Amino acid sequence: MCGVVGFIGSENTAEILFNGLKTLEYRGYDSAGLALCQNNSFHILKAVGKLENLLREMQKNTSLDATMGIGHIRWATHGAPSLANAHPHISNDGKTVLVHNGIIENYKELKADLSAKGYRFSSDTDTEVAVVQIEDELKSAASFPQAVRQAMQKFRGAFAFLIMNKDNPQMLVAAKRNAPLLVGRGEKGMMAASDVPALAGHVSKFAYLDDDELALLSPQGMVFQNAQGSVFTKPLQVLSLSQEALSKNGFDHFMLKEINEQPAIVRSLLQRFLVQGKIVMPSFNLSAQEIENLTKIEIVACGTSLHAATVGKYVIEELADIPVEVEAASEYIYRKHPKNNNILLIGVSQSGETADTISAVKLAKQRGAHVLVLTNREDSSLVRFADSVLGLNAGLEISVAATKSYTAQLMMFYLLALYLTQERKTQQHDVLQKLQKNLMAVPVQMEEILADTKSVQRCAEKYAKAQDFIYVSRGVNVATALEGALKLKEISYINANAYPAGELKHGPIALLDEKMPVLSVLMPGSPNYDKLLSNSQEAKARHARLIAVTSARDKNLKSLFDDVLQVPEVPEILSPLTANIPLQLLAYFMANKLGRDVDKPRNLAKSVTVE
Ligand code: F6R
Repeated sequence: MCGVVGFIGSENTAEILFNGLKTLEYRGYDSAGLALCQNNSFHILKAVGKLENLLREMQKNTSLDATMGIGHIRWATHGAPSLANAHPHISNDGKTVLVHNGIIENYKELKADLSAKGYRFSSDTDTEVAVVQIEDELKSAASFPQAVRQAMQKFRGAFAFLIMNKDNPQMLVAAKRNAPLLVGRGEKGMMAASDVPALAGHVSKFAYLDDDELALLSPQGMVFQNAQGSVFTKPLQVLSLSQEALSKNGFDHFMLKEINEQPAIVRSLLQRFLVQGKIVMPSFNLSAQEIENLTKIEIVACGTSLHAATVGKYVIEELADIPVEVEAASEYIYRKHPKNNNILLIGVSQSGETADTISAVKLAKQRGAHVLVLTNREDSSLVRFADSVLGLNAGLEISVAATKSYTAQLMMFYLLALYLTQERKTQQHDVLQKLQKNLMAVPVQMEEILADTKSVQRCAEKYAKAQDFIYVSRGVNVATALEGALKLKEISYINANAYPAGELKHGPIALLDEKMPVLSVLMPGSPNYDKLLSNSQEAKARHARLIAVTSARDKNLKSLFDDVLQVPEVPEILSPLTANIPLQLLAYFMANKLGRDVDKPRNLAKSVTVE
C-alpha cells in the first residue's frame, strides 16, 4: 500500500526521502514521487513503476538542494498508476502540496462542492481533492495548521498526510486518522513516515501520532496539536530498529532470510509462553471462568493469516473442545451475526493494518465479543480495538509474501490452544505434556529442513515451466496446501489451486493430465494418510505428475510419487509447522528460477489498508 515520508532539516532532503521510500518499498506500489521545497518554490518529480525510475528523474535534477520535502509511493486505488495520479498533489494556486496514504471516502461529494466553487482537478485521485480542500480552507483559516484541521473535519475515511505550504517554508505538517503515521527527531532534522524503517538511521526518538492529531515539524523540533488546535506534549520513544532487521544479512532475498529466521522465532515464542511446563499468557485478559464459559470462538483474517486461522480452528477444536468458526474478514463484515454471548473473537493480522480485519474486529466489539488480536505489529491500528493482544514477535517482515509471520501465527495458535485446554481441563495432563515436548523439538526439525534444500531446489527446477499446479491435503494440512498454493501463485504467478484431497474427484480431477503437477501433503499416523494415498493413485491414473511432502519413510512412496520432499517426523497435528517450509522454499526457488521479483511481486501490497 502507499507509503509517505517527509523531512525538514539541514541534510540533503532528496536523498533522505528517496532512501526512506526505498525502505517502504516492501509495502507494494506502482508509482512514486517527491516534492522538494527549495528557495520557496516546489519541485515535483514523479515516475510510474519502480523507484529506480524516480531516481532517474532525480538524476536529471542534480542541482536540487532542498531542506524540506515529502515523498510517496502509491498503490493505485482511485485511478490507474500514471504520472497524473502519482503523488504529491498540488493545489490549484500551486501553494500547497501534499502526499497521502489512505482513502478519503467522501471525496466525490467534496470534489463536486469544490468544482462548483471553480476549482479544477487534473487527476482521478481522492488525494487531489484533499489538497484542494485545504487550499479552500486557507481562505478562511488564520493559519496553515488551522486550514488542515478544518479540512480534516470534512474528510471521512483514512489518511496519513504530509503537507507543505509555500507561505510557511519552515513548517511540514503531518496529520492522520485511521492510517499509521510517525514523527521523529534526529540530529539533522525532523522526519515523518508511515512506518518505522523509513526513520531508521536519521532519527533517534519518535512517536506515533494518534487519530486527529497534527505534528508541526520545523528544522528545530516538533509541536503537537489536537483537533481543536491545542498544543500538547507527547512522549517520544527510542528508535531501536537494528540495521540487521533492514538488511538481507547475506541472503539473496528478504523472503529467504525470513524463511531461515523461522526456527529462532518458534524457539523464542516457546521460551516466552512455556514456563515450567505450563502455558502462561498474562496478556490474554480472560479469566479461567470466562474461558470455561466460552460458547464459541470466531476467527477473522485475510490471506495467509486466514490460513493460519484455519489451522487454529482445527487445533482448538481438537484440544480445547470449543466450536470455532473461521471467516475471511471481508465476508464477516457484510453478513448478519445471530446474537450469541460469551464469544471470543480473534483477529489475526501480520501488519495489524488490514482494513477488512480492522472492520471485522470493530463489528465484533460492537456486538460485545472479547477481542483478542494476534499481530506482528503491536504498534498497529488493529491493536487499538483489542481487549487482549498476543504479539507474534517475528520481527519486521519485509518480503511481501508472508512466511515467518505465518509460522509465528501457527505457533501462537498452538500455544493458545494449549492454554485454553489447560484452563478448561479438556485433556489429560500427559497429553498436554507430550504435545509441549513435541513442540519444543520443532525448531531443530525446522533447522534440519533448512540445512539441506537441494531436493526442493531440484523440484523447483523441474516444475518451473508448469502453467498450473494443484495442492491437496486432508485434515489440518488442508491449510498447508492452501498456503503453499497461495505462496506459489503470488510470487511465481503460476496458477496454483488447493483443495481438500477428497474434493479432487468432485470436479478438479477433470484438469488432470501429464502436464499437471499435483502436490500432496501427507503425514502418517492418521486415516488421512491412507486416504491421501488413494487420492494420489486416482491422480496418477490420470497421468498427473505427483509430488509428496511427507514425513513417511515408506519406500513405496517412490513408485507412486515422481518427487518426494521429506520432512522430519512430528505428530500430524503439529505438522503444518514443518510441512509448510518445503512449500515456502518451492515457491521461492520457482519464482527465482522464473526471474520474478521475489520480494516485491506485482500488484501486491504488504499491508492492505483498503476494503
Ligand atoms: C500472502 C500475504 C497476504 C496477507 C494478507 C493479510 O503472502 O502476505 O495474503 O497475509 O494480506 O495481511 P495481514 O496478515 O497483514 O492482515
